[in-house]
Amino acid sequence: MKGIVLAGGKATRLKPLSKITSKQLLPVYNKPMIFYPLETLLKGGIKDILIIMAPEYSGHFLNLLGSGKEFGARFTYEIQEEPRGLADAFIIGENFIGDDNVCLILGDNIFDYDFSPFIQNFSSGAVTFVKQVHDPERSGVVEFDKDMKVISIEEKPANPKSNYASVGFYIYDHRVIEIAKNLKPSGRGELEINGTPSINNTFLEMGELKVSIIEGLWEDAGTFNSLLRANIYWAKKNGFTV
Ligand code: DAU
Repeated sequence: MKGIVLAGGKATRLKPLSKITSKQLLPVYNKPMIFYPLETLLKGGIKDILIIMAPEYSGHFLNLLGSGKEFGARFTYEIQEEPRGLADAFIIGENFIGDDNVCLILGDNIFDYDFSPFIQNFSSGAVTFVKQVHDPERSGVVEFDKDMKVISIEEKPANPKSNYASVGFYIYDHRVIEIAKNLKPSGRGELEINGTPSINNTFLEMGELKVSIIEGLWEDAGTFNSLLRANIYWAKKNGFTV
């Protein structure tokens, strides 16, 4: 199993914090944000990790993370010239993935959850993860029945069909590369994981998309409030009384 951290994008929602550095390098309590998704992959036993960055601050990522030796891992770097969408990660990562399976984690998604059983037991197809939220319209939304069979997936729908948000962690087999290469941009002009068309909707049509509910912390730390919540969570977890 290989891992990809997608850490590009423009981070317009965090300006001016993100004006002179990358969002994924901002502090979350005692570490730069990107340490959290990296540690989520490492905890899952993934040691071969591709980091995809925007061009502007790519040197900072290299200075910070290096070869990966300090993490007991091997890091590879690629630049995404333009934020063409989440599914672009599999086009950029084609050679890195090869014939292996791959986990994608979004560089601003912070979890306190152990994905290892899913990583170890994965054989083929796709696994997407969800968490119940109060504001599903801010995320990809997954609708599924009582047997955990996925019915629909929509990107930030005005009228969500469930209150289960798609979190930024996905597992696929290598066919994801060809699926990504054949995707057309969605209505908002992005190569999507959850929209229409998208990677997850393609695996759903193939009857090969599984869904699993996660526990523990999940923050998409891409807004001021969620970034603050993530800081407070890890401060408390480290024994600091906020
Ligand atoms: O956080 C989970 C959500 O992430 C999902 O529920 C949504 O279905 C999914 O579309 C995504 O929504 P966001 O609005 O949070 O996506 P955002 O554009 O903020 O991108 C997520 C991360 O990926 C962020 O760290 C920036 C990076 N990114 C994004 C794009 C579009 C890239 O590196 N390249 C890109 O082209």
